[in-house]
Amino acid sequence: MRHIFNKGQDPTKPTLLLLHGTGGNELDMLPLAGRIDDEANVLSVRGNVLENGMPRYFRRLAEGIFDEEDLIFRTRELNDFLNEAAENYGFDRDKVIAIGYSNGANIAASLLFHYQHALKAAILHHPMVPRRGIELPDLSGKSVFIAAGTNDPICSPEESVELQALFGKAGADVKLHWEERGHQLTMNEVEEARKWYMTL
Ligand code: MLT
Repeated sequence: MRHIFNKGQDPTKPTLLLLHGTGGNELDMLPLAGRIDDEANVLSVRGNVLENGMPRYFRRLAEGIFDEEDLIFRTRELNDFLNEAAENYGFDRDKVIAIGYSNGANIAASLLFHYQHALKAAILHHPMVPRRGIELPDLSGKSVFIAAGTNDPICSPEESVELQALFGKAGADVKLHWEERGHQLTMNEVEEARKWYMTL
């Protein structure tokens, strides 16, 4: 997968996996990584699917309606890529923390839904429930930060609460942070994510 890897100054720190929103690329989220932890490794990955020229991580049939088969395939592809990248770049596979926005948050959530050891933790900005009706792996020991908007037309408040409950039921430690805004990624929620990250 097309990506950028920046080795961090502190080898004991985790690797921040950056996942952009629809139409973004691997450059978009780099400033965010610097705000969360400027000493960690950074692995920023571009989505492999194109929708009218816009990169994404999996196909969708319409806004908010996912192509489930492709979601499953792409989630595995990303997980495999993380395994390979950990070998190639020599980072600890067990210390990957995702930071995703919108479609990037959805594929990060999907990694947690499908693979017990894909991520140590995740910061999800405006995620949706990636799939329903499946049993999640045991996520005890995993930490998830969700930033949601009370007026988000893409991820409704109900869906954010549903996602929090699903992660919680699987044993993850979940923090749901509300912004009185829409789907946008705000500086305030990044700051809240930073404070949460510091407690990990
Ligand atoms: C998705 O397709 O993942 C969601 O609708 C969010 C987005 O617009 O990318």
